[in-house]
Amino acid sequence: MPHVPVLLDEVLEILAVVPGKFVIDGTVDGGGHGLEIARRLGPKGVFIGVDKDSELLTKLKSRIAERDSSHSHAKITLIHGSYAELPEILENKKLRRADGLLLDLGFSSEQLVSGKGFSFQNNEPLDMRYDTSANLTAAEVVNQLSEKELADIFYHYGDERLSRRVAKEIIVVRKRKHILTTFDLVGIVKKAAPRGYERGRINPATRVFQALRIYVNDELGELEKALNNLKKIVVPGGRVAIISFHSLEDRIVKNNFREAERAGILKVITRKPIVPSDGEIAQNPRSRSAKLRAAELI
Ligand SMILES: C[S@@+](CC[C@H](N)C(=O)[O-])C[C@H]1O[C@@H](n2cnc3c(N)ncnc32)[C@H](O)[C@@H]1O
Repeated sequence: MPHVPVLLDEVLEILAVVPGKFVIDGTVDGGGHGLEIARRLGPKGVFIGVDKDSELLTKLKSRIAERDSSHSHAKITLIHGSYAELPEILENKKLRRADGLLLDLGFSSEQLVSGKGFSFQNNEPLDMRYDTSANLTAAEVVNQLSEKELADIFYHYGDERLSRRVAKEIIVVRKRKHILTTFDLVGIVKKAAPRGYERGRINPATRVFQALRIYVNDELGELEKALNNLKKIVVPGGRVAIISFHSLEDRIVKNNFREAERAGILKVITRKPIVPSDGEIAQNPRSRSAKLRAAELI
């Protein structure tokens, strides 16, 4: 399932992508936004795409090679890493700060079918790492952390009302056997949830999976780190666009932009977040929770 870029026109406009500039896509994935940005930057532009998931970068490299007409787009460099490390990446590559930065947070549709345990709909090893060379897997987290630590993760990162019950059930089950797959975890959540929980609206495992994914990839910590380093990544007059998909991320972006504005680091361009039109949501239901916030560095 190819990933459909969210709020593409709005991102292009707000980042003011014009020929000859230097733009970084810190979450390039399949290049849904990135390749269109690179095209608009033209042959004199520079485009850097960063992603934590090396498998996605390999796929993107072959996509670019297949349809390459390099004379019509910017010089493209793909880098495996975290957008939180962008200051170091720029320094190592001896690159100047960029004119624009895009972060389209979270996971991509391709990762849902990557076999890495992001989806509760398929039975897969419980991994959930974007970067499979780093950190603990989700299985290690559920098998190793204490009941309280697990309950806190489900509560804080998933807003899960049943956080304690799920954590308790995990401890009961893991005394008998290791929890290794997505379906092991789905079974535990179902057992912990009362009948009719969520009333069929969303799968009862949705919040627990979201919470584990955020924890395993330190998503909020990475976001805060990048936001605190914007001056080292983007030139004065350059722009930053961030698309978030849940309130935890959006709150961090909103508050950080506000504080940075007070400190004279940037000017917020979006007083209210830009959200997808009804037409976009109809075509791409995944876009419904997207919020785009943008700022200009001073
Ligand atoms: C929503 S997708 C981006 C989709 C892309 N804009 C497109 O339209 O094709 C998010 C991507 O961010 C990557 N990602 C998540 N956290 C990251 C981080 N800290 N650094 C770099 N990439 C990250 C994920 O691996 C995933 O590929």
